[in-house]
Amino acid sequence: MNNLKNVKKNNVLKSRTFSNSLKLTSKKNFLTLDSNLKSKKSVVKNLYRAAYHSSNRVKEYEGYIDRNYTPNKNDLVCEYYLEPANGISFESACQRVASESSIGTWTDIGTMSHDLFNKLAPKIFSLNPKNGIFKVAYSCELFEEHNVAQIMSAIAGNIFGMSDVKNLKLLDIDFPNSFIRHYSGPMYGINGIRKIMKEKYRPFVGTSVKPKVGLTEAGHSLIAYDSWIGGCDFVNDDENLTSLKSNNFDKRISLTLRARDKAEQVTGEKKIYAPNITAPYPEMVRRAKEVMRNGGEYVLIDILTTGWSAVQAFKDLDLRVVIHGHRAMHAAFTRNPNHGISMLAIAKFCRLIGVDQLHVGGIVGRMFEGEKDVVNVGESIESQIVSKNIFRHRLQEDWLNLNPMLAVCSGGLCPAKVQPLIHAMGRDTLIMAGGGIHGHPNGTIAGAKAMRQAVDAETYGIDPHEYALTHLELKLALEKWKK
Ligand code: 6PG
Repeated sequence: MNNLKNVKKNNVLKSRTFSNSLKLTSKKNFLTLDSNLKSKKSVVKNLYRAAYHSSNRVKEYEGYIDRNYTPNKNDLVCEYYLEPANGISFESACQRVASESSIGTWTDIGTMSHDLFNKLAPKIFSLNPKNGIFKVAYSCELFEEHNVAQIMSAIAGNIFGMSDVKNLKLLDIDFPNSFIRHYSGPMYGINGIRKIMKEKYRPFVGTSVKPKVGLTEAGHSLIAYDSWIGGCDFVNDDENLTSLKSNNFDKRISLTLRARDKAEQVTGEKKIYAPNITAPYPEMVRRAKEVMRNGGEYVLIDILTTGWSAVQAFKDLDLRVVIHGHRAMHAAFTRNPNHGISMLAIAKFCRLIGVDQLHVGGIVGRMFEGEKDVVNVGESIESQIVSKNIFRHRLQEDWLNLNPMLAVCSGGLCPAKVQPLIHAMGRDTLIMAGGGIHGHPNGTIAGAKAMRQAVDAETYGIDPHEYALTHLELKLALEKWKK
């Protein structure tokens, strides 16, 4: 007992000595720091010279408008839609957004020199209170070029929560060339995918296995097989099927990729399976490698729920797999026409970081977007040079040598919708149907046949109803889903 008391006493003494020495060290450090600061006083004074006097400070939320400014090749340009809050003018609200997304804050600050402001303050070079549109040019110096998360935190971050703004939407971004050069873009894109598929011309037909979840691994692989032999080029897992108790990822991909091999032998066509590898990042990478080990060449990632940093890091691994981007969650910020981030902006970031094909909407299906929006996104991800279009609120973009991404159209599609969809989106499209295939009156094989027949009819320039006269599956589909 006495021994124990002695040990405790010693420990208390030790810790007191330690804290005393810590105090002394801290004091010494502080003195050194203080003398260093004093010796650097002239430098510091020089840096913040103007800011020392509150009368000469840079005013908060002022000085960002410059109607004569022409964006230069190093500027990143954003187009926003804005509705100011009550009591705030449109001009002032725009400046508040420009400030918050770059260097400013709600009050004047003694740490902002005029030199710093002149160098880094973004320039609002176009603003129109009548339609709520304004355009801002940001200097590249504000961004860490190869870091999409940082860029988003700036141009699509705090600004959406400002009380000065009633509604705000990031409509489009024009990445400067100097910036695009930091990215390698899609490894495959349209041309790479056509090469893998050995198909130069027609649109592709795909399906997501339904029900989305609930099937066993074997059940899933059988439905995938039926889809392929019916005529689908492409089968993917849906956005919420990853590795579940009743459907394990490793087991599913092994069975489904074997079914793919068999379907390729039976049909003589190239077939694709895109398993959903969405998971915490290290597991996502492991799953991708498992897909490749089993002979797969495609993966699906829920890009938004996974996050920019992980998708970017995954692409930068250069694993030589095609990345299919599912956009689940996008409508939380794309759907409101007045507030959030447009699908166009999301899609452009996807091309930048190297997603090969991306869901962009269905136009004629069950998703909210209309033709104008989806075509706009399709053109922007599939063209090399995107010309500006003021009616679509589209900025110009030169993608330099970044491959074009393939547009994936989906959501409520069926054979009756194929013709109008191809007319709007063109032949470089992957047309995906879930219910529109597995809901066919004669089942999945017939459903896949009907979808493929609808695509063939359009490719040969024949009206689908005429083609249906000699193609029973298409006929039955058109009877069930009239439009
Ligand atoms: C999308 C859709 C899509 C959907 C299906 C299609 O964002 O494009 O959510 O991925 O989940 O796979 O299913 P249906 O054809 O049955 O609508």
